[in-house]
Amino acid sequence: MKQKGCALARMVDVSLQPCSARKVFKPLMIEGMGELMWACPLCSLERHMSMENKVIESITKLEKAHCLNDDEWSLLIDGRYDRQVLFERANQICEQYYGNKVYIRGLIEFSNYCRNDCLYCGIRKSNVLADRYHLTKEQILSCANEGYGLGFRTFVIQGGEDLSYSTGDIADIVRAIKASHPDCAVTLSLGEREMSDYKIWKEAGADRYLLRHETADEAHYQKLHPDDMSLTHRKQCLFDLKALGYQVGCGFMVESPYQKTEHLIQDMQFINELQPHMVGIGPFIPHKDTPFAKEKQGSLERTLTMVALTRIMLGNALIPATTALGTIDPRGREKGLLAGANVVMPNLSPVHVREAYSLYDHKICTGEEAAECIVCLSNRVKSVGKEIVIDRGDYKPVDENNR
Ligand code: 5AD
Ligand code: FES
Repeated sequence: MKQKGCALARMVDVSLQPCSARKVFKPLMIEGMGELMWACPLCSLERHMSMENKVIESITKLEKAHCLNDDEWSLLIDGRYDRQVLFERANQICEQYYGNKVYIRGLIEFSNYCRNDCLYCGIRKSNVLADRYHLTKEQILSCANEGYGLGFRTFVIQGGEDLSYSTGDIADIVRAIKASHPDCAVTLSLGEREMSDYKIWKEAGADRYLLRHETADEAHYQKLHPDDMSLTHRKQCLFDLKALGYQVGCGFMVESPYQKTEHLIQDMQFINELQPHMVGIGPFIPHKDTPFAKEKQGSLERTLTMVALTRIMLGNALIPATTALGTIDPRGREKGLLAGANVVMPNLSPVHVREAYSLYDHKICTGEEAAECIVCLSNRVKSVGKEIVIDRGDYKPVDENNR
């Protein structure tokens, strides 16, 4: 008996089907759900069924109330249930707000110098093997011009915390991009700075700022960062950026060293408190020249789970299918798009510096021209029934009453 509807609807249908007779297990064939095929409320699978019902209940609660208790979070993050239910619901919610549109951001990795020493990051200052570079203002502008011709309407200026560019230099770059391309958004991703710097850049025309919080647990944060960095300051930066009127993106790595489920729960709670416009989520991937070289990489399923949960909790956020997802699985980004992501961020940096912007090992798309990258990505996006659009891709505010 083939059931109609999405995986969630199919599951609900089944849970409502009465069993025909005691001790006679009525087989209910459900596409892609082997474990639920013998759905008898009177048999030994009863507990399993009620676990599945709890999953549905928790997903629905997350969608409506935007929060869960710790047991419900643990169930959705760690539980043994068919993730397709979660991913399909996340995709449906994404399509309610954004249709099948996928927004592109042209990423310009302008410097791999960094004053910080995050233990996971390949461009940390202690990595003497990193081949350091920074792009000139002219090079950055020429990347943006090339990107504009390819259909990009958002440019992300991202780099390590490189103080050789003054606050004024960055403001000049923002102004120059906005002057050449007034129909484009400029996103900055330059790490932690003073609120006064953020203010100057906002006044120069910057629209958005990406600053992943990395982990919302203080003790876990300390295990990933040196003593001179603090979660408190990182969070303060995010709240400052929001107060200045930026569209703000936070985010975290999945299965970074020492990460436990309780930390992911804290990430979700922090995200709900911050109410960011964007959330970047990718698997941790070890880099060979860092203290975490021998640590295990994050898994695809757990990363997709966190992407989907974030979509369901926030509804209208902009969520990238990250390059790191594409690095751990050849179709990772496509899978991300089917689990609630709606943004991709191809590289616009000059090909000769791409290898050097190595945050983690085996990063994809380091050898292609920007134009090749966008053709390849368009095809990938089409393969999951979505389409890349030429659009700034701004955050769409939601009337809470219509949610
Ligand atoms: N694995 C995965 N993501 C990483 N990042 C930095 N190093 C790694 C790594 N080893 C992510 C961080 C950072 C973003 C720019 O890249 O989350 O905020
Ligand atoms: Fe540069 Fe983390 S190593 S900000």
